[in-house]
Amino acid sequence: MLEVTNINKFYGGVRAVENVSLEVKKGKIIGLIGTNGAGKTTLFNVISGFDKSDNGIVNLSGKDITKLTPSNIAELGLIRTFQTATGFPRLTVLENLLVFSSKNNFNFFNNFLIKQDNSHDLIETAENVLKNFGLLEKKNQWVGDLSAPELKILEFARAIMGDPLIMLLDEPAAGVNPALLENLMSIITELNKNGVTFLIVDHNLRFICEITDYIYVMNDGKLIAEGTPDTIINNELVIQTYIGK
Ligand SMILES: Nc1ncnc2c1ncn2[C@@H]1O[C@H](COP(=O)(O)OP(=O)(O)O)[C@@H](O)[C@H]1O
Ligand SMILES: [Mg+2]
Repeated sequence: MLEVTNINKFYGGVRAVENVSLEVKKGKIIGLIGTNGAGKTTLFNVISGFDKSDNGIVNLSGKDITKLTPSNIAELGLIRTFQTATGFPRLTVLENLLVFSSKNNFNFFNNFLIKQDNSHDLIETAENVLKNFGLLEKKNQWVGDLSAPELKILEFARAIMGDPLIMLLDEPAAGVNPALLENLMSIITELNKNGVTFLIVDHNLRFICEITDYIYVMNDGKLIAEGTPDTIINNELVIQTYIGK
């Protein structure tokens, strides 16, 4: 579904990503791990169109998306979340989901004003998503008043509203407490059963090993290992460069 071939990205003299190729097959949950500065977020930026690679190709469902804008890529069903979640602080939790709907926003707001059925569907969908994420009770709170972990969860919930085929999650478990983490894992599993493919960056190895089918490991811009969770946690090179640190 997603094929990344020979991506290179330099920032001045810094080689953030060096000749990285990876593949995410439809229906899979794939992990991407590596120490801070390994180039994981840069790779996500390149795949999702937020940054341009120096060379290399990104293919989504057989289509070359290397030069497309983030919004064009999102329309094709690839939606990413950010390591540092933000949201619109002066909109409510519910409103934050509604503005991220894949439906045409202008139509939505018009419909909302004249209360057509469509808008009710959308609100119902958003409320349902919030319920699944445990945020329904906070639907009328300002996003600016949420805690950092709640913001992280909201970021994921918002991304669902874009109707993704494939999601790139950048450290979804960072700062999320154990109870919320269980919830996060069941949401990912449930979405995956419903056809959503995932590429997930996270430092929580228990989380990554439990939910992924296959893991890529980056270090210093390069891919240093790949394999099933079992082989990765027993890989000497991975233990030395990542787990051992
Ligand atoms: N916009 C940027 N300008 C300059 N250097 C950057 C920029 N973004 C990332 N880098 C550098 O690229 C390398 C990879 O960073 P990053 O992709 O954020 O790694 P990771 O997400 O694996 O922690 C780091 O050395 C970082 O300092
Ligand atoms: Mg990062």
